[in-house]
Amino acid sequence: KLTPVILCGGNGTRLWPLSREHYPKQFLSLANDGQSMLQNTALRLAGVNPDIAQTCPVLVCNADHRFLAAQQLQEQGIAGAKLVLEPAGRNTAPALTLAALVAEPSAVLLAMPADHVMTRPEQLHRAVEAAWPLASEGAMVTFGIVANRPETGYGYIQKGVEERNGSFRIQSFAEKPTLELAEQYLRSGDYLWNSGLFMVRADQWLKAMGALQPEMLRACEQAMAQSSQDMDFIRPDSELFGACPADSIDYAVMEKLPVRPELGVPARVVPLDAGWSDLGAWDALWDVLPRDAQGNAGSGETLAIDTRNSLLFSESRLIAAVGLDNVVVVETPDAVLVVDKSRTQDVKKVVAELKAQN
Ligand code: GDD
Ligand code: MG
Repeated sequence: KLTPVILCGGNGTRLWPLSREHYPKQFLSLANDGQSMLQNTALRLAGVNPDIAQTCPVLVCNADHRFLAAQQLQEQGIAGAKLVLEPAGRNTAPALTLAALVAEPSAVLLAMPADHVMTRPEQLHRAVEAAWPLASEGAMVTFGIVANRPETGYGYIQKGVEERNGSFRIQSFAEKPTLELAEQYLRSGDYLWNSGLFMVRADQWLKAMGALQPEMLRACEQAMAQSSQDMDFIRPDSELFGACPADSIDYAVMEKLPVRPELGVPARVVPLDAGWSDLGAWDALWDVLPRDAQGNAGSGETLAIDTRNSLLFSESRLIAAVGLDNVVVVETPDAVLVVDKSRTQDVKKVVAELKAQN
């Protein structure tokens, strides 16, 4: 069965001051559609061919956000989800491992990041249907997006020989390359961006982890062996999980799988053209929001004069802007951010600095 695994333990610091420690971005409705990104993610598979029977989702998040996550699922009528609570995040490889240990060994997991926007979900459904037989037979399937700029915040998948259902073997996988390499990959035309969605059978994932990250697997197994459960909440042992090394699926497994065919977990990529974007930072939000003739996007009460290509995001007070170009202004009751739109990746430095001062 297909088991959606929603990874929503990130802290979203680049979207400060809207995204806060106790209320990170995945729980917010940034695109102004009335649903949070978590809710959008949880509903996104509705429309996949019903022959692919689905189980309730497994959600992996920080223990501090359990009620927020549970309430948001309940609001959308999603019942029976299992919530695995991390005492502290160890990045996505351990998070997916916890989910694999909770699911049936033969379940086909679909790891879904909770910070994405997709404007054409029906394309995701077709890609999931194409990936399903491959993952059922033991492959680790990624979903590749046609790259249109040398983005250094993504993973790059080099396509190999074409296989069944429009999929490709993965020749190599490079996570967050340097700008120089990203430009080279883009020019070559051989690479797709990694969307961050992964489809893999639980037992195959655990096999790959056993071979590539034995220490991580052992820590997760021990933490789950000592886990406790109350209501829908599953809590791995805090000390044992705390001892787990931290790393992402991309570095810990995906960069290594293509060169380790003897493991018996073939790496595949299925192309995905679903109007995908990762709402990582404020510039990405500007990109997906509707914009006026001057290229301005916004929310709340705003007034823009002689202003272009800017994002004005107001929560409680009027933002008036004159003569701005390519600027992001975000107003909340207790903090205001003003940042050049080309520097929005560095907002995480603000959060780091504020933390250091406290
Ligand atoms: N449960 C849990 N625990 N979830 C986590 C943790 C953790 O410790 N860390 C991150 N997540 C969640 C985030 O909330 C997000 O939904 C997802 O996992 C991906 O994490 P990011 O931190 O946003 O990853 P990224 O954007 O830098 O990179 C990944 O996504 C890119 C596309 O958006 C990689 O897979 C790249 O290769 C990919 O291109
Ligand atoms: Mg991301």
